[in-house]
Amino acid sequence: MDFSRRQFSAQVLGSLVAYGLLETLWSRDLLADEVKPIIGNWLKDLIAMCKDLKGQKLTDLDFQKKMEALYKTVNLKDLCSVVKLDDIEKKVKLPDNGASSSGIDFKQVDGLPADIGFGRQIFGCKKGRSIVPHGHLNMCTGFIILKGEWEGRHYEKVETEKEHFLIKPTIDQKFEAGGVSTISDHKDNIHWFKAVSETAFIFNVHVVGYDTTIKGNSGRLYLDPDGEKVKGGLIRAKKMTSEECHKKYG
Ligand SMILES: [Fe+2]
Repeated sequence: MDFSRRQFSAQVLGSLVAYGLLETLWSRDLLADEVKPIIGNWLKDLIAMCKDLKGQKLTDLDFQKKMEALYKTVNLKDLCSVVKLDDIEKKVKLPDNGASSSGIDFKQVDGLPADIGFGRQIFGCKKGRSIVPHGHLNMCTGFIILKGEWEGRHYEKVETEKEHFLIKPTIDQKFEAGGVSTISDHKDNIHWFKAVSETAFIFNVHVVGYDTTIKGNSGRLYLDPDGEKVKGGLIRAKKMTSEECHKKYG
């Protein structure tokens, strides 16, 4: 069978996700090496997918499924090399509170457009430190763990009150190298990662302003998930400033 890489991402991965097969194949490392794309093509697919989201050819929920599927096809060693994780580990002093954030330049990768169309960075934490709990408005992100281990918690933002968010816990699990997670305005909007290994690093892609009907700034919405438990398994989580949130969770 002869099909292009783009079709592969769009169709085959979509089917694997739909039938729940990708997870199984991945966890058993049965995806053949030739199926795992080389990094340049992988980045092109990532760019195309982010453009489709921004151009409203993909819904945020479809984007999340496809992003997770695409992340799972990457050769992690190649990704760490192209984002120069070694350099970051050497140069960046991981903070005593919260996470470091390092920008990434893909200029050295041949054949990529000048305008990549998505933001990207690497977060790093020392053991016990966190990318503190926060949500976003009008933003989709995709995380892939490059190195180390994290405790990752996600929540749905169900309702916004004046001083609180009503949130529902959705994910609470350990994330190891290669582990992936995505958020959007409609699924798992709030995330929080705490490093549990000596050092830990996450690669992050974010697309802002993908939905013209959503108003408001896409910056971080800090909150305290350790709030009053109310009916329906929800938590009334107090809105916080960055400072308050880092003081408690950073
Ligand atoms: Fe975030």
